[in-house]
Amino acid sequence: MAIYYDQENRIFTLHTKHTTYQMKVDKYGFLLHLYYGGKIQGNADYLLTFRDRGFSGNPHDAGPDRTYSLDALPQEYPCMGTGDYRNTALVIRNEDGSECCDLRYVSHEIRAGKYGLKGLPAVYAGEQEAQTLEILLQDSVSGAQVQLLYGVLEGEDIITRSTVIRNGGEAGFTVEKAASACLDFLYGEYDLISFYGRHAMERNLQRTGIAHATQAVGSRRGASSHQYNPAVILADREIAEDHGSCYGMIFVYSGNFLCEAEKDQYDQTRVIMGLHSDLFHYPLEPGETLVVPETILGYTEKGFGALSRCFHRCIREHICRGKYKDRTRPVLLNSWEASYFDFNGEGICRLAEASARLGIDMVVMDDGWFGKRDDDNSGLGDWYVNEEKLGCTLGEMIERIHGFGVKFGIWIEPEMVSEDSRLYREHPDWVLRIPGRRPVRSRNQLILDFTRKDVRDCIFEQICSVLDQGRIEYIKWDMNRSMSDVYSSETVQGKVSYDYMLGVYDFLEKLTARYPDTLIEGCSGGGGRFDAGMLFYTPQIWCSDNTDAADRLRIQYGTSFFYPVSAVGSHVSAVPNHQTGRSTPLHTRGIVAMAGTFGYELDPAKLTEEEKEEVKEQIRQYKKHESLIRQGEYYRLSDPFQSPFAAWMIVSEDGRNALFNAAALEIHGNMPVHYVKLKGLNPETLYENTESGERYYGSSLMKGGIPVPMEMGEYGAVQIEFRAIG
Ligand code: GLA
Repeated sequence: MAIYYDQENRIFTLHTKHTTYQMKVDKYGFLLHLYYGGKIQGNADYLLTFRDRGFSGNPHDAGPDRTYSLDALPQEYPCMGTGDYRNTALVIRNEDGSECCDLRYVSHEIRAGKYGLKGLPAVYAGEQEAQTLEILLQDSVSGAQVQLLYGVLEGEDIITRSTVIRNGGEAGFTVEKAASACLDFLYGEYDLISFYGRHAMERNLQRTGIAHATQAVGSRRGASSHQYNPAVILADREIAEDHGSCYGMIFVYSGNFLCEAEKDQYDQTRVIMGLHSDLFHYPLEPGETLVVPETILGYTEKGFGALSRCFHRCIREHICRGKYKDRTRPVLLNSWEASYFDFNGEGICRLAEASARLGIDMVVMDDGWFGKRDDDNSGLGDWYVNEEKLGCTLGEMIERIHGFGVKFGIWIEPEMVSEDSRLYREHPDWVLRIPGRRPVRSRNQLILDFTRKDVRDCIFEQICSVLDQGRIEYIKWDMNRSMSDVYSSETVQGKVSYDYMLGVYDFLEKLTARYPDTLIEGCSGGGGRFDAGMLFYTPQIWCSDNTDAADRLRIQYGTSFFYPVSAVGSHVSAVPNHQTGRSTPLHTRGIVAMAGTFGYELDPAKLTEEEKEEVKEQIRQYKKHESLIRQGEYYRLSDPFQSPFAAWMIVSEDGRNALFNAAALEIHGNMPVHYVKLKGLNPETLYENTESGERYYGSSLMKGGIPVPMEMGEYGAVQIEFRAIG
């Protein structure tokens, strides 16, 4: 049992292996938050204090008691209009224009298993692995009913939160803001860690103190975005990689989001995660509901590393689905950086033939195979094979590729349309655009109105008729611009950005159901939609359009705080690198790409014989370690933003097998030796360096560390396998 209800005190307690979460229905029916953190026993309502505070109002029910104020008390789901002047989780605009929703406890239910969310991605778990708590709150005036959902995965130290808002009244109202989780802390100094970036440089870590102000990260781009990832950590000031308390919050959603952190007038901290309130005014007629996407919460007293591993497990085991969830992923060669738009069927077959010789499992034909698409100005929306360009049918080309013993994958960008396309000429009204205005273009493309089923159905049929032309075992699903002109001719305004995401998820659900054996890799100009929502449908996502090994070390470092290695698309590309012009050794590029779902993004014909041999060896190495890399526990050993070295390792669950990796970001004359302490090993176990045969105890490797063997030259890297002896 993970969920307890103390009827006498009306206290809910959620226990996981190492954490406790507690809340209380108070005498007025408000749901107050009591505690979230390391495991405790008993009730924490003694933590609440009541004082008469100036300019912090009192609910009418409190009568003459001036010490009860929602402006000071910790709450589970604070609402606008109740005398709480901090950031709120819910803003409802009633039919009379007032913004108020006064939620009081009505009932609750505890049941086995984890709740699911209609139309939205969410953590899933077996009946025995999880429990659900559902608390119903209601505003008696508007009839707004809010179902707070809590999923407790006891063994995983994970608690999920979501909200279903229903109009149970007689008049319509509009949801102006809706979050799925709010965490209130009565005291403490916290840092907020967030992950900012830009196209080709995603998920840089930023750590700032939470001050007397609202600090917010979010996206209004229609996708979770390159700019801010929908995942944050709230950390004690002293916390480091291996010690200290921290909370993680990740939003299981791929569209607009808002995370606000604020220290209030009484030095209490509130963090809210939910849908962005901009471009969002969600009308609910009587009987209608809105499901707010889920936030996953985790807490540990053991530092950032332990928090990351907790989220890695949760995402790997309880978000990712499908055939490839637990399977070896193919080593693939993608045609993009090999030939961009300039290819034909012969060229793709040549890539496949060369792939076969190198030991690569699959060739992926990227952008440019459909409609009229010889550059990125035209053709999107016309999902029929350009047989003239290929010089054959797709089926024939796939047959030839299979003849080399190589699998085949293809690129699509279903949500987009070029104005220069047959689809757009036939259906100019199918795009998001505001009547009377000219839409903002980006990469010379517009966004299809995926809130509309007819639009989705047409694209779905087109794409299926391509996918049915041969055995296609992989799809790269791209999305190459931010949303603007958020207006649909068919959908009620204010609903568009949210309903668009529902449309994308619906499409993905249908696609995965129809092609259960196909591996889908998500992508949005690299990592512009790298989030737990997409991972529900696509177990891997192209991490960044930046394939430069040195930059990737930093991008993958930031990504590793929440996302497992199994989700990170990572390839070896040619040098000088196409994004930075930098040259790094092939060996280093291989090691960096091995911290992900491995592949290549280059033309093998341009490799020297010596490089080809090295590539073959890389693939052998990767395949040898593939299951360890995909399923092992990930440890960060350095911070590549601070240190001239990047180092990380992956350890098997039983601690008997480990892969240590390090790469130099700087080189200078007469360098000091760089020592690294390993992590995650069994102290008592004797390990062997499988290459040198040297043996060490886990305790020595972890406490004494190792001198990192580095060769001369820029951007060198090493990979060492350690195996337990006996
Ligand atoms: C995006 C992707 C690239 C490539 C191109 C094709 O930028 O991230 O990998 O597929 O689109 O246009």
